[in-house]
Amino acid sequence: MKIEFTLNHQKMSIEAPPELRLLDLLRDYCGLTGTKEGCGKGECGACSVIMNSKLVNSCLVPVCQIDDSEIVTIEGLEKNGELDVLQQAFINAGAVQCGFCIPGMIMAAKALLMQNPHPSEEEIKKGLSGNLCRCTGYAKIIEAVAGLAGNNNRL
Ligand code: FES
Ligand code: FES
Repeated sequence: MKIEFTLNHQKMSIEAPPELRLLDLLRDYCGLTGTKEGCGKGECGACSVIMNSKLVNSCLVPVCQIDDSEIVTIEGLEKNGELDVLQQAFINAGAVQCGFCIPGMIMAAKALLMQNPHPSEEEIKKGLSGNLCRCTGYAKIIEAVAGLAGNNNRL
């Protein structure tokens, strides 16, 4: 089927099987490999992207559901060659180890801060609870998001 949608602020029109996963469309058809596949069944959050301002697991979304939607991936956060403040906050806080979970974690944090610019620590933990990290112990990740949450004019 022909799928028309907006990807990282650009209009796209792609022919793909309707049952194809959004995750595969992004990685294999669009070359956006920042979005990762972990579990492939909605449990790890590595494949998180923002669809119509809401966080989704792209491994669970068939592309027949994305027609006319607006998708933002980790690649869409950078502007004019500059990292998004969240990406920079993760680096500054030393919140990245192997990095596999980080694109999904940042998209989850972005979705949270879009809805709630001043989340409490508990709200940050809840907002990121669908994203698993096997390396960091989460403390630095929460610190990175909390640093921005207290200063939302940087968002
Ligand atoms: S790969 Fe989609 S939630 Fe794990
Ligand atoms: S930094 Fe390695 S899985 Fe999170």
